[in-house]
Amino acid sequence: MNNFKPNVVIFRCNFCSPIGAEHAMASKLKDNSRLKLIGITCTGRIDPTFVLDAFAKGADGVLIAGCSPGDCHYISGNYKAGRNVMLLKKTLSQLGIESERLRAEWLATSETPKFLSSLNEFVNEVIKLGPLTAS
Ligand code: FES
Repeated sequence: MNNFKPNVVIFRCNFCSPIGAEHAMASKLKDNSRLKLIGITCTGRIDPTFVLDAFAKGADGVLIAGCSPGDCHYISGNYKAGRNVMLLKKTLSQLGIESERLRAEWLATSETPKFLSSLNEFVNEVIKLGPLTAS
C-alpha cells in the first residue's frame, strides 16, 4: 500500500482555473499520484455519468473544481454541480464506494495555493482509502 499512487481525475472549470495550477500541480504531486486534468466550461455541465464513468474506468478519486458561489459565469452552474455532488455521494455509498472519493472545491482564479492545498489533502485522503477495487 505504501507505493500506491492513486489515479485522480480533476474536472476543472476553465473560468476559475487558478493561474499556474497545472505547473505547480505537476511539480508538487507527480510523485504521489497520477492526475488527469479535464477542463470544462462550467461545473454545471458535468453530467453525473462523467463522474461514475471516471470511477468505472479506474479513477480512485474525483475532484471537481468550480467557481466560488456567486461567481459562476453561467449564474448557477456551480450550484447545480453542488447538488449533483451530493446526489453522487449517496449513489457512490449505495454502490459500496466511499463517498470521500468524490470532492468538490469552489475557487477563485487567484486561489492557486488553496487549490493546491485542497488537491494535496484530497490525494492524501485517497491514498489512505487505498485503491478502488470492484466488489
Ligand atoms: Fe465556473 Fe460555472 S463558470 S463553475
